[in-house]
Amino acid sequence: MSYEFFRFRRLRRTDTLRRMVRETVVLKEDLIYPLFAVPGRGVKKEITSMPGVFQMSVDVLAEECRVVRDLGIPAVILFGIPEKKDETGSSGWAADGIIPQAIAAVKAQAPDLAVITDVCFCEYTSHGHCGVIRDGDVANDPTVENLAHQALAHARAGADMVAPSDMMDGRVLVIRRTLDANGFTHLPIMAYSAKFASGFYGPFREAAESAPQFGDRRSYQMDPPNGREAVREVAEDVAEGADIVMVKPALAYLDVIRAVRDEFDLPLAAYNVSGEYSMIKAAAQQGWLDHDRIALEVLTAIKRAGADLILTYFAKDLVARGLIR
Ligand code: PBG
Repeated sequence: MSYEFFRFRRLRRTDTLRRMVRETVVLKEDLIYPLFAVPGRGVKKEITSMPGVFQMSVDVLAEECRVVRDLGIPAVILFGIPEKKDETGSSGWAADGIIPQAIAAVKAQAPDLAVITDVCFCEYTSHGHCGVIRDGDVANDPTVENLAHQALAHARAGADMVAPSDMMDGRVLVIRRTLDANGFTHLPIMAYSAKFASGFYGPFREAAESAPQFGDRRSYQMDPPNGREAVREVAEDVAEGADIVMVKPALAYLDVIRAVRDEFDLPLAAYNVSGEYSMIKAAAQQGWLDHDRIALEVLTAIKRAGADLILTYFAKDLVARGLIR
């Protein structure tokens, strides 16, 4: 019989053969695990809409970080819920604030774990917006100054990387200059560069107690239909000195991840956000989807689209159960 067509199935016949020709494998080194720090001691409170995700006081969170480090996950990203919120979110740059406390506790338990801090104000302001309000909207330039204060407070407390998630214009530049002027030229910035105003953040706002009290975030986060603008946002953050850029959310924005990957050679992160996590948990609880299979399929797709790093609430569980090595 002459050669008529190609038999793709030859390399799909056994698991071993499939493993040999697999193009994309998610590794634990790719993962960044998000954690939520709250005031108090001995606090471990599950987020109703995010089964398996907890608000933790810094003592509990530090213990958790030791487990995460022992599993071989290289990094966590910390979100802080302060004791007191105000109009400007001033507890966000306090030297003894919730994040500085958390960093100290984590460093005592797991010194080699990379501690990344989310830099934003929505958890710290009484109105839940990501900055200072002037004339009914978030004012860009004063917020940028405050973000730089916050990033510096995190740097002084020992953070290994800061990650501004606010979407103010020019904040990477001002944070970079502030860090450099204060002896932190070595500290990398992971910029939430293309962050969309997404419905997928719903469950996070319960976890971070950061839902806006009026309006929404559409005047600062990106309009979901805009893919080309996302590439421009990334270009700007690269020009301002970002070391790692991010696309967020991930699952509904795989095309954006791919576009950014094709355009830039920086490390690229993607945030597998709360709603993406909760959808899988909820469907699995109903018995409608196979939890492990879907979680791995989604994370693999995010990496296949071009992400080098994935922020995901699945990290600890999937590594602990050997599903990611
Ligand atoms: C803002 C911030 C948000 C998330 C990360 N940083 C929420 C928002 O912009 O409203 C969302 C993460 C998630 O949904 O998992 N500090």
